[in-house]
Amino acid sequence: MRVVVISNQKGGVGKSTLAVLFAQWLAAKHAAAVCVIDLDSQCNCSKSLARFGGELEAAALFAVETVAVARAAPGSVTLLKGSKRLADLELARAEVVVPAFRRQVAALGGTYDFVIIDTPPALGLRMSTALIAADVVVCPIELEEYSIDGVTDMLKTIFGVQKRYNPRLTLAGVVANRFNPHSLRQKAALRDLVANYGEFVLPAKISTRSAIPEALAAGMPVWELSKTSAREASEEVFEVFRLIMQRMHYDAAVEESAT
Ligand SMILES: Nc1ncnc2c1ncn2[C@@H]1O[C@H](COP(=O)(O)OP(=O)(O)O)[C@@H](O)[C@H]1O
Ligand SMILES: [Mg+2]
Repeated sequence: MRVVVISNQKGGVGKSTLAVLFAQWLAAKHAAAVCVIDLDSQCNCSKSLARFGGELEAAALFAVETVAVARAAPGSVTLLKGSKRLADLELARAEVVVPAFRRQVAALGGTYDFVIIDTPPALGLRMSTALIAADVVVCPIELEEYSIDGVTDMLKTIFGVQKRYNPRLTLAGVVANRFNPHSLRQKAALRDLVANYGEFVLPAKISTRSAIPEALAAGMPVWELSKTSAREASEEVFEVFRLIMQRMHYDAAVEESAT
């Protein structure tokens, strides 16, 4: 099992969007059994994945009592949905909730091939807990004047967690999302980003495409919408996901023959 966290302390950069699309892509294209954990009390990804959700809330993973998950079929998505009470966890005792979450997520390995964690837009307890429980982190960003500062803070958090709590954690990459190829400002921000953090930046971008919010609202993968913008969006999204798989050294053939 791989535990992938989608993280950025900024809102509106595409965390929930990537979490939803990556989960659906892994299930559809890799026949993976995928579990999505929504740690944001705004529950955006829970809305888009509502048809995959049951009664089980993501908040239950922070409790000491072990949650029971049903068996999952290959090619399926299961949602552990977000809820308002997730916000209260920011005031919980880290020494209790962090080990509980880490243990419960590790136990999901008996059932799922991938766990995707969507995080709230803050450098808080839920984000650190997710990073402590993860193997891989993906960091979507929107290119604008201050995005470098945001990336610097995010990288400090990621490498801080890696050093102190979770040496297994790797950064799959920073993903430029909602890219506008006509914006000189965005192009300058991208140059800046690559100059400072080139090795961490995925060599792929996702442009602003109307098909993406449309697909999310319809609760379906963008590649199933039949319109030109959806096809273009899908090509970009697939390339990003292919690179993420490559950077997490995931080779389906090896994994299958090992089991
Ligand atoms: N590439 C894109 N093109 C167009 N709209 C996008 C794109 N990526 C995300 N969005 C939209 O931007 C908004 C914010 O994205 P979201 O994934 O909710 O961000 P976050 O989870 O980081 O707060 C959503 O309405 C989403 O549909
Ligand atoms: Mg979100």
